Amino acid sequence: MALGLVGAVVGGVAGHYAGHHGLLGAAAGCVIGQHEAKKHAREQAERVLKGALDAGYTFLDTAAVYGLGHNERLVGEVLKDRRDEFVLASKCGMTDGETRDLNGSPARLKRTCDESLARLGVEVIDLYYLHRWDKRVPIEDSVGALADLVQAGKIKSIGLSEVSAPTLRKAHAVHQIAALQTEYSLFSREIEGSILPACRELGVSFVAYSPLGRGFLTGRIRSAGELDEADFRRTSPRFAGDNFTTNWRIVQVVEQVAVETGATPAQIALAWLLAQSGDIVPIPGTRRGERVEENVGGDAVELSTSQLDRLNAIEPPVGDRYADMTPLNR
Ligand SMILES: NC(=O)c1ccc[n+]([C@@H]2O[C@H](COP(=O)([O-])OP(=O)(O)OC[C@H]3O[C@@H](n4cnc5c(N)ncnc54)[C@H](OP(=O)(O)O)[C@@H]3O)[C@@H](O)[C@H]2O)c1
Repeated sequence: MALGLVGAVVGGVAGHYAGHHGLLGAAAGCVIGQHEAKKHAREQAERVLKGALDAGYTFLDTAAVYGLGHNERLVGEVLKDRRDEFVLASKCGMTDGETRDLNGSPARLKRTCDESLARLGVEVIDLYYLHRWDKRVPIEDSVGALADLVQAGKIKSIGLSEVSAPTLRKAHAVHQIAALQTEYSLFSREIEGSILPACRELGVSFVAYSPLGRGFLTGRIRSAGELDEADFRRTSPRFAGDNFTTNWRIVQVVEQVAVETGATPAQIALAWLLAQSGDIVPIPGTRRGERVEENVGGDAVELSTSQLDRLNAIEPPVGDRYADMTPLNR
């Protein structure tokens, strides 16, 4: 699959991010510790971010809530001289700048956009998502605030995350929605029912977050118990106890196809997503430079019809994605 040219895609076909390789803004920023540990984390994050651009990623995903601003600052500082090489995407609506706080009021979104611009060190953000719909605020009002930000030249396009097809349609009636970001992988295929068809109908790019099933599909995690105490996945029902064991059959099929093709399981998971259609932008996350290279290699893997059939036939996992599903819009 050809890589999109950042300038051409953003400036040319508004609202369409097909063909991009995505990556998060390096999670290493959250590490807190001694001076040396911080220095190491910073160096590691710099390697990931610069290595991603060198490897051909053209789409970086961050959010105000990631490390409560730390992640945006990191992207801004590390890539300030390479700003024209990638689509810069960030998100609002889940923090007041100091704590986690779901709030989609127009005033909050406008204020936190200014704070994100300052942290990122840019005058405009290419793609700005409402991270979650705050159901206390009509979606039209939150998207209306984002439309004002487009008008003011602070953001170029609007995205949503984790909304249903009806909510997407309501939002799209207020202003063109460029992209919808929601979890999608062989571990999470719920969006195929009504959400993906709505995106296609409206010309909304689909950005697939957690495309490696939060690492599960890579086969490197053998039990939730081996994860750090603070690791989010310890709270995810599908990583818990018997569910983890039951869901392992998904990894087994992915690993089998990986052996047949000479690719890694991570590359198979990404190749499957890219084979679904050219309008899907996977954004695999990693803190390790070597995995940046490995993951972009998923683009070159060609799956045969029979391999796609076997991957498509995998039964859905057991267990919800989040312990608390209420912030999602289903
Ligand atoms: N909109 C939303 O609400 C939302 C929610 C979640 C995530 N996101 C976005 O989506 C991005 C990706 O999602 P994610 O990080 O949750 O899940 P992911 O990309 O599915 O998986 C990331 C995990 O897989 C591991 N990994 C990455 N490449 C690997 C490889 N080649 N082999 C083995 N393990 C590998 C990473 O560990 P290492 O770091 O050790 O490599 C990390 O633990 C996030 O960074 C964020 O930008 C958005």
